[in-house]
Amino acid sequence: MKMLLPALVFVCMSYIVSAQTVSYSKDLFPLVKAKCLKCHEKDDENPNNYAMDNVDLIKKSGKTKNIIVPGDGANSYLILKLLPKPPKGAQMPIFSKKKLTEEEVDLFKRWIDQGAKDN
Ligand code: HEC
Repeated sequence: MKMLLPALVFVCMSYIVSAQTVSYSKDLFPLVKAKCLKCHEKDDENPNNYAMDNVDLIKKSGKTKNIIVPGDGANSYLILKLLPKPPKGAQMPIFSKKKLTEEEVDLFKRWIDQGAKDN
């Protein structure tokens, strides 16, 4: 029982976190602004034509297919780009020693899993 209780609490906590709705404007936008927009702001020299100024562009711009697969974070190219050794190019944010933390990548992933809404 001594070991079981902390394990149970952990499982419940993870469940609660994964069930929480991610708000694009409240939770994700500050991260996008701090870590991505410097390069991915819509202008003439957007890397791979990928602009992240708003949810529509995050979903529809860019060269590579399936950057966002609403409902399926694990198969969204954006998530692969945030992890080490993406299938093409570099891990984002490129040239930065400070990559995203596990929690930050998870925030992107849960937002996509929940349908990548403009909420
Ligand atoms: C210092 C500039 C810079 C920053 C900051 C940056 N990127 Fe990029 N990004 C690039 C460059 C350059 C490429 C093209 C080369 C490549 O794919 O590795 C790219 C490509 C991408 C692509 C692939 C687009 C496509 O169509 O192939 C995605 C997705 C992406 N970035 C997401 C992000 C996210 C999410 C962040 C913030 C966490 C971010 N980037 C931060 C420069 C940057």
